[in-house]
Amino acid sequence: MTRRIADHYRALLREHGDSAEAAQYSSRESQFRRFAALAPIADLRGKRVLDFGCGTASFHEYLAGIDQTPAQYTGVDVVGEFFDIAREKVPGGHFCLPDALGDAEFDYAFVSGVFNNRRKGNRKFWQETVQSLFARCRGGVAFNMMSTYVDFQDPNLFYEAPERAFGFLKREVTPYVVLRHDYLPKLGSVPFEFALYAYRDAPGLKV
Ligand SMILES: C[S@@+](CC[C@H](N)C(=O)[O-])C[C@H]1O[C@@H](n2cnc3c(N)ncnc32)[C@H](O)[C@@H]1O
Repeated sequence: MTRRIADHYRALLREHGDSAEAAQYSSRESQFRRFAALAPIADLRGKRVLDFGCGTASFHEYLAGIDQTPAQYTGVDVVGEFFDIAREKVPGGHFCLPDALGDAEFDYAFVSGVFNNRRKGNRKFWQETVQSLFARCRGGVAFNMMSTYVDFQDPNLFYEAPERAFGFLKREVTPYVVLRHDYLPKLGSVPFEFALYAYRDAPGLKV
């Protein structure tokens, strides 16, 4: 299943090159709007950041543009072909396949767009991924998903009920959870996706 998804992104990269379209977004603005909903989990300057499903490291470009360049940036992806581009953009960054992450630890982990493609066991995938990322992070994890609060669902995408995701985090991960369902991934649309922040401690106390 992961191989099918990796082949899908490889094909997008071949067709579109380093672009928002290679990450399956309609535009860079839409890609950056999602980043804008995730980045406020904390002040990231001086922090160790993990970008899970990093693509070509566009998130780092976004952070640099808002003066939030982290001290350390690690990108993980199932498509190794993204890394050459990512390394050019972030010369000091570290990029690897998921299995090569070892026991590395971070302050904050980010997951943007990775849970959207329909795959076998979508719910298990996002829940296990968030749990394992959270275990590596001193500060917390921010991620997004498509919302069930929509008029139309694309059969190739996975939609989660925001209250279900919130409940899972509260019960299984941490008491400190923020749910954002207020932002527009596309200007002029409706809020069709949501973001969650899972903190290790009450926000602002430690990291
Ligand atoms: C929608 S794109 C988003 C890329 C990037 N986060 C962004 O917002 O520009 C999803 C990315 O997740 C990666 N991906 C999919 N499944 C993955 C997995 N199991 N582990 C790591 N990366 C994965 C894909 O290769 C792709 O680069």
